[in-house]
Amino acid sequence: MRRFSLSLLSLAGCALIAGCAHGGSSSSTASSAPSSASAAATAVASAPANAPNGAEANAGGSVYVTNCSSCHGATGDGLPGAFPPLAGNPVVVGDATAVVHIVKYGRSGALVVKGQRYSGVMPAWNGTLSDTQIAQVITYVRASWGNHAGAVSPAQVAAVKK
Ligand code: HEC
Repeated sequence: MRRFSLSLLSLAGCALIAGCAHGGSSSSTASSAPSSASAAATAVASAPANAPNGAEANAGGSVYVTNCSSCHGATGDGLPGAFPPLAGNPVVVGDATAVVHIVKYGRSGALVVKGQRYSGVMPAWNGTLSDTQIAQVITYVRASWGNHAGAVSPAQVAAVKK
């Protein structure tokens, strides 16, 4: 491991030196090499930061298709009068604890979303879905179809009691 990264370093060093030697006295070649190297380093550094969120959203997408889309629709539009839309719904992108409570323990009764009345029964998912799956699906619906709200962690889901 250690020897591998050392040899990688010396390889990079060789490439830089070779680049300089090749460029000869031309200063433009010499100055373009370090800047493209740092651009590559920036790209590499930002990749791990994006990866976990993307993975959560992907997992949430399959939880959604299996458990939620039959009522709320594949694109979160719901069915007017029967199933409320999740897309563009202020509750969905609002307080995370409130969303967790609804998905975990269900809700029923009068509800108005985007001027449309609902009075149905949202099933409770506690037990059917794990805290991790609930976190994933909420993260997904909060970041899909034009919704832009933050991710929810399994620990946050576990902390919400009935
Ligand atoms: C059997 C149909 C059905 C399924 C499946 C279902 N829901 Fe619902 N959901 C409803 C109904 C009906 C309501 C409105 C309940 C009411 O009138 O109080 C609702 C409400 C909601 C709300 C609250 C919306 C608001 O404006 O307050 C959220 C969030 C939600 N559902 C998310 C989900 C998620 C996530 C899943 C999948 C894990 C899911 N639902 C699966 C029928 C369903």
